[in-house]
Amino acid sequence: MILAEHVDHVLIDQDRLQARVAELAAEISHDYAEVDDLLLVCVLKGAVMFLSDLSRHLEVPHAIDFMAISSYGASTQSSGIVRILMDLETSIMDRHVLVVEDIIDSGRTLDYITRNLGTRGPASLKICSLLDKRARRVIPIPVDYIGFEIPDEFVIGYGLDFAEFYRNLPFIGVLKPEFYADVDGHG
Ligand code: IMP
Ligand code: MG
Repeated sequence: MILAEHVDHVLIDQDRLQARVAELAAEISHDYAEVDDLLLVCVLKGAVMFLSDLSRHLEVPHAIDFMAISSYGASTQSSGIVRILMDLETSIMDRHVLVVEDIIDSGRTLDYITRNLGTRGPASLKICSLLDKRARRVIPIPVDYIGFEIPDEFVIGYGLDFAEFYRNLPFIGVLKPEFYADVDGHG
């Protein structure tokens, strides 16, 4: 079984992806040039590839921490009921926090995360999402850095999964319809 044969088409190829991550890192490095306690909060698992590439391009000192979130619900939509599966190891009190996420869909996950982290007294709190499916937004979220706006299609690769597979693909692609089943594709 060859993974690439499951891909209907590539939406963002590896070169475009890498070039844009480098651009975002340059922008973030510029904006945080005066900050010496930047913390990148990676939302597991989808943002792992993005975080690791972004972090390697950043020119400012920063720490990284991880948080795992689950949204209850079936299918390729999130329910809006969100809970923390794994919390940060470190305190964010008085620190500059940049949440690194793979994709914003309805906005419910990031709404929950930013409201939750906001209660912990960060010096600042911003959001960086690789992908933005703006057409599907239910809750408006102010996003500070966005890699790509994408159409309303379910995408996989570069950290994004369908039923936990395809995260390793080095590009963002769309799955062939025959590989979809009505199972939870989130995370
Ligand atoms: P939201 O809470 O509706 O904004 O959903 C955000 C989460 O749903 C993301 O962090 C992803 O884990 C997942 N998600 C949304 N759209 C996709 C997609 O097209 N492919 C893979 N995962 C997705
Ligand atoms: Mg995610």
